[in-house]
Amino acid sequence: MGIVAEDIVRVREATDIVALISERIALKRAGRRYTGLCPFHNEKSSSFSVNPELGVYHCFGCQVSGDAITFLRELDHIDFIDAVERLATRAGITLRYDDAKASQDRQKRSRLIEACGAAVEFYHERLLTSADAGGARAYLRSRGFDGEAARRFQLGWAPDGYDALSRSLQDKKFSREDLASVGLSFINRSNKLQDQFRGRLMFPIFDRQGDAVGFGGRTLTGDGPKYKNSPETPLYSKSRVLYGLNWAKAEVAARDAVVICEGYTDVMAFALAGVPNAVATCGTALTEDHVQILKNFTRNIVLAYDADSAGQSAAEKWYTWEQRFDINVRVAALPTSGDPADLWKSDPDALLRSVSDARSFMDFKLDRVFAASDLETPEGRARCAESAVNILREHSNELVREGYIQKVAGVTGFDHAWFKQAIAKPATRTAATSRDAETRDALEPVARPNPTERIDRRELEALRWAIHDPTMVVNWIDTALFSDPLAIEVFELLASTDSFHEATAAATGPVLALLEQLGVEEPVGDGETETLHARLVVSLVEPAGERWLRDLVRAGDDRAMVVKPVLDKIATARNSDWHMGEKAALQLVAMLSDAYASHSSGASETPHISDESEDASPMESDAVGAPEA
Ligand code: UTP
Ligand code: MN
Repeated sequence: MGIVAEDIVRVREATDIVALISERIALKRAGRRYTGLCPFHNEKSSSFSVNPELGVYHCFGCQVSGDAITFLRELDHIDFIDAVERLATRAGITLRYDDAKASQDRQKRSRLIEACGAAVEFYHERLLTSADAGGARAYLRSRGFDGEAARRFQLGWAPDGYDALSRSLQDKKFSREDLASVGLSFINRSNKLQDQFRGRLMFPIFDRQGDAVGFGGRTLTGDGPKYKNSPETPLYSKSRVLYGLNWAKAEVAARDAVVICEGYTDVMAFALAGVPNAVATCGTALTEDHVQILKNFTRNIVLAYDADSAGQSAAEKWYTWEQRFDINVRVAALPTSGDPADLWKSDPDALLRSVSDARSFMDFKLDRVFAASDLETPEGRARCAESAVNILREHSNELVREGYIQKVAGVTGFDHAWFKQAIAKPATRTAATSRDAETRDALEPVARPNPTERIDRRELEALRWAIHDPTMVVNWIDTALFSDPLAIEVFELLASTDSFHEATAAATGPVLALLEQLGVEEPVGDGETETLHARLVVSLVEPAGERWLRDLVRAGDDRAMVVKPVLDKIATARNSDWHMGEKAALQLVAMLSDAYASHSSGASETPHISDESEDASPMESDAVGAPEA
């Protein structure tokens, strides 16, 4: 892992999870817990619950759970080490690292970032001063970008040599391996280091923190692809990086909106035009990862693709994402030809207006149909209405469609009812039908199986006590009392660790998820404190004893004769004398745990393993005469 395990526990303990989560969502106190709207799924009621004492959260809606570390990881999409480091800084803890491999990885990462940064400087210096960059400077000027813009965006020139950058960086003690692994150089067939980018105008790409992680290099001669981009490297993943987010993030949050464009020059143009909250994807469509990252800053997205490419962009995808990620997508009002950078050059005010006049995707598409239609003739209006129906149908939400029908009815003069009927009819294009089905599927809430629905509630309750108030169970609880394999794992982990934090630190997968969920669920403890302990013991021991008796009877084991009277005693004591029941139950626990200990290596007869319903009484088992034994 890299960070000393003890330090991770210290960080968990030192972190005020309520304060941390409150920075992102509003939490309300509810008894000893806090609740709020889940930041991981879209909801109207507060299913998200935080337990400050144990430092865990759980969402009863989407089943996410975790601690402060997971919270940061999943919301900010950062890795484990990053999350721990951030929390350590918050808490003023100095971390110690143990694992040589992990600290090597971190060292490598910082070396790669340094190499990228050195390349940014190298290219930038070349662009500003070198004679061979004259053409690049002239090109930039022709696009409206002056020296100040070049400095602001750290633009560069990759000389058209062979290994100018590689040599310069090697002189600065960067290794061949590092230069290759960060995608600046490659090792050619004659085992020489060669520059990846040659004769290109360089747009450095920074991560959110402002560290250079990659490049887009534009050809000015038409040789090769228009843009050559950094390959996927340990630093750079194009499905997650957004060009310009390092500069734009504060403005995105302040303006509560982000403008997403397609090109590096578009981002620059927007920034220079007074729209500093613009970012671009780097040669890829917007991904779900991008959306998740942006959601940390805003829910309002304005697509500034030129109108043609926006028109071609699958509208259903955006409608689906709007619902799934609870975002609001609008389309900037850009002309059909030319992109934002071109518009900025010819009419900077129009670029500004394109953002303030952004419309919903539906409006955008309908307006295009209206504009292309001849609304003067009945034939033209009919064609327009039919096209509009196809567009309206793309939205799966009837209420949303309803609002737009009004508009379309107004423009075409056909009545509202006609549109409703036409939309309800199957789409004329078969492709559209299958797309609709996909959209519907995507809209289903992401239901993860909830393990607590399967596990016996009494076992869950015992585990809650073991977590929240171990004194209630410590003297009597035993693995043999549990039947569910997951509950057993959780129990054994709790029993073998000294604190909840230690247990969660050691857990993974479903065990961790269940631990964390139980961490925010308090045991019931219903007022009647006098019999609480006794009832708890009986509630867990009785079903375990019944399962055991059933197994013993089936196996023709004599111990059934001893177990049955004890169970009977518990049953009699139930409701009348809980303390007597408790005593009998504790007696049974001793027997069970002995039996379990002596059988725990054998498979079939382990007392706690039985998938029979615990409602079947021992008498019935007797009467049936154990048919399958
Ligand atoms: P564009 O072709 O619209 O380029 O591609 P652009 O950004 O407007 O560039 P200029 O203004 O003509 O100089 C949009 C984006 O798509 C990616 C780049 O990220 C580019 O900014 N792209 C384009 C590539 O990755 N490779 C290509 O070959 C072309
Ligand atoms: Mn362009």
